[in-house]
Amino acid sequence: MNFSNILAALDNAKERHLEDLTEWLKIPSVSSDSTRKSEVAAAANWVAEKLKTAGIATKIVPTDGHPLVIAETPPISGAPIALVYGHYDVQPAEPLEDWISGAFEPTVRDGNLYARGATDDKGQVLTHIQSVCDWMATGEPLPLQIKFLIEGEEEVGSENLERMLPSLRDELACDCVVISDSGQYAKDQPAITYGLRGIATYELKIQGPSQDLHSGSFGGAVMNPAIALCHLLSSIVDSEGRIQIDGYYDDVQALSEAERAAWAKLPQSDDQFAKEVGVDALFGETGFTTDERRWARPTFDINGLTSGHQGEGVKTIIPATASAKISFRLVPNQDPKKLTTALQNHINQHVATGVKATLEPSHGAPGMAADPESRYAKAAARAIASAFGTPPVMIREGGSIPIVTRFQDVLQCDCLLLGWGLSDDNAHSPNEKFCVQDYYRGIKASAILWTELGKLNESQA
Ligand code: BES
Ligand code: MN
Ligand code: MN
Repeated sequence: MNFSNILAALDNAKERHLEDLTEWLKIPSVSSDSTRKSEVAAAANWVAEKLKTAGIATKIVPTDGHPLVIAETPPISGAPIALVYGHYDVQPAEPLEDWISGAFEPTVRDGNLYARGATDDKGQVLTHIQSVCDWMATGEPLPLQIKFLIEGEEEVGSENLERMLPSLRDELACDCVVISDSGQYAKDQPAITYGLRGIATYELKIQGPSQDLHSGSFGGAVMNPAIALCHLLSSIVDSEGRIQIDGYYDDVQALSEAERAAWAKLPQSDDQFAKEVGVDALFGETGFTTDERRWARPTFDINGLTSGHQGEGVKTIIPATASAKISFRLVPNQDPKKLTTALQNHINQHVATGVKATLEPSHGAPGMAADPESRYAKAAARAIASAFGTPPVMIREGGSIPIVTRFQDVLQCDCLLLGWGLSDDNAHSPNEKFCVQDYYRGIKASAILWTELGKLNESQA
């Protein structure tokens, strides 16, 4: 096999690679938006066509929600099997007025491609698809079997995939899942991510009087649901962000000294970080560095808050209801179901009299830990060093990919998180972007990864 032919082919195809991504990004595949069902399906079709055209056996598998795209190259005896996982669904693009160019009108500016989904996750997952499709086009055999699972519900919790995963166990059987849906540590400092936080999300609703009341006639006599909600929410967390729910920290794994020492060597600057996000000062638990707080400590957040009069002018009412969308980030070993019970107990104990609180769990997923020393991680480190010109640092990250621990449990496989994104890529936010150079380097790293993984003999895998 002549690998330099493959690298040359990838190098010559840069323009087409960018055109492909641009085409995919034009499809507004917002999974949470029920009016976008056909666009979400179109994004699935687009990637299925891309794989099929390269001669890869591909199918679209319907679910109770958005479809899965599953594909595989031919088996290679004696070599391990890699499963590329990624998602073609995106978060809503609102607020639209904050975008410099349209969210679904991909535009290159200053070496970045701007569009919803550019980094999360179409641009990143497409790096692996391009490397495999172009490899196949050279006529050279792939050094291992590569399977693909590209889903359309990651941004809404992957519940349909989770339900179906056991029935797909044989079809998706693999030694290692490869995921590019995270980030580099910094510009020109690639990383391998060996841990993610888990998540538990809820809606908390407070019901007070049967309808809005005049706050003059009734204020002082009837509990205000918005105030009850504020009290309840502030009872969950203290001013440092420490969660006040009984037993919440019981299952939290302490950071090891070795891990803390390794992270302390990473070039982090709180001032720079604060500046990047536009705040005067950072926040959080004392005794932990910023990376420790973001990657390895649990947190509570209010994601949305609604009650009473939001329109123009004054309206003096006691609103009938108040509600909040809330989320917790969990660390490995914390159980989202256990949290739901503890949170419900906390609410029962702390809710004001005269109002009724209801807690509706939405999705939950545990935190993930992978082996930073695995043979797969070492193979990936070699591939990244060669493509980026800098060896990767080993990090954890604070975001969540709900299905990853299910892969570990159901498929009994290793898991490689190779992020090509940057922390200022504006994922989930206006002006999302992906650095075009990182897209190309990701494609190259992916191709080199296949050769490195191919060298790992199955018996040792
Ligand atoms: N790609 C992210 C996860 C991520 C973010 C990993 C940052 C590493 C660093 C993923 O698409 C995502 O946004 N997940 C959601 C899951 C939720 C909607 C269930 C998250 O973390 O909020
Ligand atoms: Mn993602
Ligand atoms: Mn996301």
